[in-house]
Amino acid sequence: MKPRRDLFGKEYITETIDSFEAIWNLGKDDKANPQIKWFYDVLNEYFSTINLSHPVIATEEARFKRIINEMPSTAFKTQTAKSIPYHRAKQPVNNVNYAQFYDLCKQRRSVRWFLDKPVPRELIDNAILAANQAPSACNRQPFEFRIFDDPEMVKKVVQLPMGTSGYGHSIPVMIVLVGNLDAYFDERDRHVIYIDASLASMSFMLALESMDLSSCSINWPDIEARESKMHSFLNLKPYQRPIMCMGIGYPDPDGLIAYSEKRPLHQIRKYN
Ligand SMILES: Cc1cc2nc3c(=O)[nH]c(=O)nc-3n(C[C@H](O)[C@H](O)[C@H](O)COP(=O)(O)O)c2cc1C
Repeated sequence: MKPRRDLFGKEYITETIDSFEAIWNLGKDDKANPQIKWFYDVLNEYFSTINLSHPVIATEEARFKRIINEMPSTAFKTQTAKSIPYHRAKQPVNNVNYAQFYDLCKQRRSVRWFLDKPVPRELIDNAILAANQAPSACNRQPFEFRIFDDPEMVKKVVQLPMGTSGYGHSIPVMIVLVGNLDAYFDERDRHVIYIDASLASMSFMLALESMDLSSCSINWPDIEARESKMHSFLNLKPYQRPIMCMGIGYPDPDGLIAYSEKRPLHQIRKYN
């Protein structure tokens, strides 16, 4: 991209336009949709910079124009800046320095004792918004957060994984992170949902801490009987997999937190 080549992406442009058309036909949402806008802006930028004399590019540009002519402009035109490659600001825009970030990381510990205090959904949503800034392979974001804050449902869902014995009754909100295998078309990538969801859940947990909430990750075991119970509890599609669970809530200041010493730096890093 630096400098941009005269001709690039010709191997992918046909399938990209196919996807653009298919996604549009799927929803035909005439309201501003940030993902359609992103798709439109990138393709528009592509065709405005690429060498159009190549026959494949010319054909696909014609298709692109035909598709967008049929779309209401409200679907992709907004007053906001274009969703295309941009220069990173020269100065960091965040106010968090390393010491503050390290403290936040240290503050996050697995908490298993929570106050009997409702967790505002708005705060959970805030944490999910932060989680969704995490990287994911090809930006596919192949996961969803299934959240239970209804006490009767929490009672049921805490029993589905194995790791909640002794403290499950203290959890006010239970989350099941579900991976969507349909996001990847090759079997070779079936592990990617686990990586993508784990990266997001780390940001999620840190975001909770920044709002005085705590969490405990809970293992999802690969046991067929439990898998099928969870599938029917969550009404999952055949391509969806539970990845992990998480208990969250306001930490009980009187509840003890297990001290988990971390391995020293020299044991976990090796240069070159
Ligand atoms: C993938 C994963 C699965 C876990 N499963 C459980 C579990 O089933 N039950 C539990 O009480 N804690 C569980 N934990 C929490 C760990 O025990 C905890 O993260 C670890 O001891 C380190 O402590 P810390 O989180 O306070 O740093 C899990 C953590 C991870 C990352």
